[in-house]
Amino acid sequence: MKSMKIATLVALLASPVLAEGDAAAGESKFERNCTTCHAVVDASGNAIIGRANVKTGPNLFGVVGRTAGTEAGFDKYGDSLVAAGAAGGVFDEAALIAYMQDPTAWLRSTLSDDRARSKMSFKLRNEQDAADIAAYLASLN
Ligand code: HEC
Repeated sequence: MKSMKIATLVALLASPVLAEGDAAAGESKFERNCTTCHAVVDASGNAIIGRANVKTGPNLFGVVGRTAGTEAGFDKYGDSLVAAGAAGGVFDEAALIAYMQDPTAWLRSTLSDDRARSKMSFKLRNEQDAADIAAYLASLN
């Protein structure tokens, strides 16, 4: 019995601490942090949240599962983000969480290139907020 308890404890300690995303909480966090630069517009042109004509960053509708730097309507991507997509970088939820917290760091690790730079001049410091926003964006797919 005693050894089983220790084994369970070891398993718990060894499992990575992953923030569990809450899509409902993520909606208002997305609105507050992201809609100044990003629209979320569906295929029919309807804004899901925020305004449709925001174009500082790419449309984020369907971004979860999308190859980085490939939103057809956006022509201001930086070279590093396009290169990350060409290298196979896809925004699954884990990648999104990392990207939101530090876009340039995500590009540098994805490309193994310390000169890579993001054109997104925003960092979301809080990992739980990032996980909630990623869950919200995934719920729109
Ligand atoms: C100050 C403006 C600004 C804010 C605020 C901002 N972004 Fe961005 N975002 C950009 C720009 C510009 C790009 C293009 C980056 C590049 O080309 O390197 C971008 C790119 C992205 C991409 C890559 C999409 C693709 O098609 O490859 C994701 C994902 C993203 N932003 C998510 C977010 C989320 C989520 C938030 C809120 C937490 C946010 N951004 C806040 C400006 C912003």
